[in-house]
Order: sequence, then structure tokens, then C-alpha cells
Amino acid sequence: MLSATSVTAFFLLFLNFVVGDLDAGIIPKQWENLELHRTIDVSRSYSQELIDIRIKNIHNEPVRQYYFVLTEEVFDTISLFSSTLKGVDAYIESAIMPEQNFVANGQTIKVGVVSLPSPIEPGHETSLLLNLVYNSKYQPYPGHVDLGEEQKLLLRTNRFPISAYDTQKYTLEFQGSSSFEELQSLNGEETAETASNGKMVIGPFDSIMPYQDFSPIDVVFEHNSPLPRVSHLKRDIWVSHWASSLQFEEYYELINDAAPLKSGFSRADYMKGQLALKKGGHLTALEMILPDSSEAHYCTDLVGAVSTFKVLKDHFFLKPRFPLFGNWKYNFTVGWTNQLSQFLHSQEDGSDTYILSFPVLNGPSDTVYDNVSLSVYLPEGAEVMDVWCPLPVQKTEVTAERSYFDLNQGHTKVNIELKNLIDRIAASEAFVRYKVTSKALYKKPFSIAVSVFTALVAYFSLKHISLMIDS
Ligand SMILES: *[C@@H]1O[C@H](CO)[C@@H](O)[C@H](O)[C@H]1NC(C)=O
Ligand SMILES: *[C@@H]1O[C@H](CO)[C@@H](O)[C@H](O)[C@H]1NC(C)=O
Repeated sequence: MLSATSVTAFFLLFLNFVVGDLDAGIIPKQWENLELHRTIDVSRSYSQELIDIRIKNIHNEPVRQYYFVLTEEVFDTISLFSSTLKGVDAYIESAIMPEQNFVANGQTIKVGVVSLPSPIEPGHETSLLLNLVYNSKYQPYPGHVDLGEEQKLLLRTNRFPISAYDTQKYTLEFQGSSSFEELQSLNGEETAETASNGKMVIGPFDSIMPYQDFSPIDVVFEHNSPLPRVSHLKRDIWVSHWASSLQFEEYYELINDAAPLKSGFSRADYMKGQLALKKGGHLTALEMILPDSSEAHYCTDLVGAVSTFKVLKDHFFLKPRFPLFGNWKYNFTVGWTNQLSQFLHSQEDGSDTYILSFPVLNGPSDTVYDNVSLSVYLPEGAEVMDVWCPLPVQKTEVTAERSYFDLNQGHTKVNIELKNLIDRIAASEAFVRYKVTSKALYKKPFSIAVSVFTALVAYFSLKHISLMIDS
């Protein structure tokens, strides 16, 4: 017989190597959720969910791993995930297994593991907080709006907890809007809830079995702000030792996911209604926070140079050529320069080794990003020793890139591909350690494996950010 710990270890190992779908039934039922409270905050263009669970070990041996379930929809757009013990201000080890699919009740799910700081004895309890940030893809409701009309959005999520364990008591709460309304379910069974005091609570519900019910809840809420989404960001950072500068250039493909206009855009109506001054789903200005003491700012779009931007200290305000209504797109480029010394540290051992640390994003506030391609161009012949990014990376690659002013093999380019980012991770820093020798040889491109979502990593970059809803 295997002991419980080796079963768990075996199970984890197993998870890493199985190809194809696994039956979620193999997750051991060692816990019971005594109380599970989900809070979904809709105040931003993405959803911030806090899951507060009191759990009890119902196994006959101490247990350390708690498995939690994510629906495919949440997993596909997840930006941040972390967990803490309730009342303890420190992240605990947890990870989502990105490659492994499970099937429960006919639905595909993803599973994550929270590894408690110490095992919990049989019959004992503890409380966990799980933080999830993801793009819920709110839909305008009922669809189009008139100029100046208030915007409502529809959020669809699972009504009941989807858990590997029995749940004794469950509530679901929405917050972050002045009004909420539950759309009546089609069979008209439940009475629809409404709320206008800034939050809506569904439940409590009792005795829910593992994976019992995947049925959705549709909630309509007021949201009188744009929903900026960058479908693609190309962020290039050029290191020049010679000029002692770090040059940034960013190309954005921006779309506003807010409600489209019912009857096209009329500039006359827009001016008449002073709508530019009113709050609504339209986007009139973008505000970005740049590194301190940036200079030589510029902005261009398809038409040419854009002059309607202002820089006030580290804030960059850009007014696009036209207000961006729902579904409207805007492609633009911004650039600026900083002193290299703000970002570069040389290793004090005479080894010609440098460490460059730079922010992962500087983009507009309250924004989601589908795809981000972050490139750092190092001096010609630089040899990359390490690349470290605190976020789940799709791909990291080091190549040599020739531009017309390079004489030899060209600049060394470090490319990091990321997806599902949000503005709040802008404070996270990535690092590149490299060596510049006079005769650095051409290095073959190499790739660094796809990383897993680890909260441990988030710990380094996110500890300065107030991560979530305060419960
Ligand atoms: C993001 O990148 C992936 C892979 O490169 C691509 O398949 C996908 O279509 C891109 N998404 C968007 C919105 O550009
Ligand atoms: C922005 O660029 C994308 C990709 O090149 C293109 O499909 C889209 O039409 C552009 N949008 C505008 C408004 O120029």
C-alpha cells in the first residue's frame, strides 16, 4: 500500500505526464468546503474574483494539498491567480496545471493545486482566499446604445461552485456597480434578484455536491465606462550603452469593447450634447504612467504624427483623433527615452555583466491585453545569460536581429510573448542579464519552456500591488 503522501505525490507527477483528458473523479475527496463565498467585482474592464473558503479535512490522515477547479472560460482569459491563508498576509504556493484537461459532469475543466504551508490534521479546519483576475468578456446589454445613453453590460458566470469537494454552504456576491439585475432563468424557476446598493447577493445555498451544476447565471449591471482592450501590443526596448539611453517604442492595436452606437456616429449630436465631457462607454483619452524622467516623447498613428498628447510628470495623456465608441479601433505608436542608468546595473566583478530591469507594461489604465510581444534589443554581440519574467510566459526567445546600421551579426534580441495581461501588473519588472564582450560569438537561438501559472512568482512582482477586492 502507498501512504497518503506518496499517493498525492504520485498523483501530482501523474498529472504532469498524462496526455488527453482525465476524469476529475481521480481527485481525492479529502476535504469538505464548510463555507464557500465568491465575490465578483465588476468595477473594472475585467473581473476580479475572490473565493473565500473554510475547509475541513475529512480524510483519516493529515492533508496538505487542496485542489481547486477552474472552468475553461476562466482559464482561457486568466491574468492573475494567487492564494493566501485567511488573515495571513503572505502568498502560499499554488499553481494551475495549464496543459492538463479534466472532465467532470461532461464538462472540460482545469485544476489547480494549493499547497498549504503545513498539513491539516484530520477533522481540523482552515480558511483560504483565492484571488482570480480574468477577462469575463462582458457583453453590452441589450446591445446597442444611443449617444449619451447609459451602458449596461451582461456578465455570465457559473451560478454554483464548481468544486472537487462537497460544499455545505455557498453564497455568490457581485459588487462594483451601482445596479445589478439577475436575468430571469429561462424556466422561470427562481425569482430574479435585483440590487441597487452597490452589491447583489445570491444564495445562500446548502449541500452542493462536487461538480453538481454548471448552469450559468446572467447578471446585468450598469457600467458607464469604456472597455479598452489591446488585441496586440508590440513593446520594443532598445538598450544603448553608447548613448546611455533606454528607448521605448510601443505599437498598440486598441479596441473599445463597449456597446456600439445604435445609429452611427453624428459629430453634430456629439458636440451638441457635450458628450465628450460626459461619462459613457466612449473612450476619449488614454492615460499611461511612464517611468520617471522620460523624455523625447512622440506619438503617431496611421495618419501621421499625433500632437494631442501631454506629459505631466510621469503621466502621459493621449487624446486620439476621434472618440472611440463601442467596437471602434485605434492603432497607434508611442515612444519615449529614459536614462539607461535608471534600469541598468553592472555586476561589480569586472565580468562585463549587466542586469537590465524594466517594467513589463506602461499602457493605459483599466485595460486588458490579449497578446503582448515584448522585445529587448541589446547591444551588438551581447550574450544573454538569463531572462526572468514574473508572469506566465508563452515563449521566450533570444535571437540576433540585423538592422541597417549593424555591421556584423546585429543586435541581440530577447523576445518574450505574453497573453491575458491587465494594466494592474504594470509595476511588475522583468530582468535580462547579459554580457558584452568585444568578440561575443554568434549564439544559436534558444527557447525557454512554457511556464506554468505560479503564484509563487506573482509574489515577487505583485506584493506591492493591492491585489484584489478587500473582503
Ligand atoms: C494572439 O496570439 C496567438 C498566437 O500567436 C494567436 O493565435 C491569436 O490569434 C492572437 N490573438 C489576437 C487577439 O491577436
Ligand atoms: C489596426 O491594425 C490591424 C492589424 O494590422 C488591422 O487589422 C486593423 O484594421 C487596423 N485598424 C485600424 C482602425 O486601422
